[in-house]
Amino acid sequence: MKFSLLQKDNKSKARAGEITTDHGTIQTPIFMPVGTVASVKGVHQRELKDEIDPDIILGNTYHLYLRPKTSILEEAGGLHKFMGWDRNILTDSGGYQVYSLSNNRKIKEEGVKFKSHIDGSHHFFTPENVMEIQRTIGADIIMAFDECTPYPCDYNYAKRSMHLTHRWLDRCISHLEDLPFKYGYSQSFFPIVQGSTYKDLRKQSAEYIASVGAEGNAIGGLSVGEPAEEMYEMAELVCDVLPEDKPRYLMGVGTPINILENIALGVDMFDCVMPTRNARNGMLFTAHGTINIKNKKWEDDFSPIDEMGITFVDTEYSKAYLRHLFAANEYLGKQIATIHNLGFYLWLVRTARERILAGDFLEWKTQMVQQMDKRL
Ligand code: GUN
Repeated sequence: MKFSLLQKDNKSKARAGEITTDHGTIQTPIFMPVGTVASVKGVHQRELKDEIDPDIILGNTYHLYLRPKTSILEEAGGLHKFMGWDRNILTDSGGYQVYSLSNNRKIKEEGVKFKSHIDGSHHFFTPENVMEIQRTIGADIIMAFDECTPYPCDYNYAKRSMHLTHRWLDRCISHLEDLPFKYGYSQSFFPIVQGSTYKDLRKQSAEYIASVGAEGNAIGGLSVGEPAEEMYEMAELVCDVLPEDKPRYLMGVGTPINILENIALGVDMFDCVMPTRNARNGMLFTAHGTINIKNKKWEDDFSPIDEMGITFVDTEYSKAYLRHLFAANEYLGKQIATIHNLGFYLWLVRTARERILAGDFLEWKTQMVQQMDKRL
């Protein structure tokens, strides 16, 4: 993997760059649509490519390990072949999903024991077997096995949790050492900063993560319920410690406003279920604010879903039609809303990149944040 920093903004800490892997180039800042179970919910791979056009999508180790199971992905020749996606994929390690989804999880030094949310079966994740599972899934970028520290969290728990994440990181690295690439293309490994909302812990964790010299670095344990201002404070502090010449990935963030604010602090990569999940509930993101398309006020509004939108659904269908689809509980409503929201998120990060390259990112960001902070 190669990361080229193309431009640093003068008035903020925003950056424009390019990551190149064996599955192509990722222009940063980037938003990665979430394809948890080898599917970006509601969007066909061809539509994803042709309409939304992301350079990279995300998959989840926890889900793919449980279903279809690692052995099936191995037999298929990896996730790219299994799902018919020839661009980049990043897999999260399960360090977050194990905590948020499984029942009866038990964290020990060795790893995490958990019960499947699908059938109640028992499983054990360790840093070593999670690296092996991710190698077999075959993503271009694989993540360290960590503990996503819950929020709120007392200082002592946060400190112990951070050290556990660091020890697990050492074990991930030892396991990966000298292993050949499984499918003939490279897989890059990103460690994850933790430390909850404690500045000294965040700094210590960022220093430790930076010291291992990975190809890219991630920030975890944010957007877990803390106020946005605290998230920004932590993200800035961590970005200031992480090396400049490596991509920085803020995990699980966020709203369009969160994304622009964090780009301004030096973050390059994002993922979040928000555009896809909220779309299925009828919430549309636009440059002028959010729309609840189920609202009666759209019943006879025959204007396009989003005049400025980049996907075909934005101009081919009206708000009244989309509202009707939601009222009638038609699958198509969720599909259209998902294409719209992902198109908007990708437009947002692409435009941020253009503005960074053009030198007027901060002015644009300030105006966008103001505009988007509305309910239509
Ligand atoms: N996704 C969102 N936050 C986190 C985190 O802290 N760790 C991992 N592994 N994934 C995440």
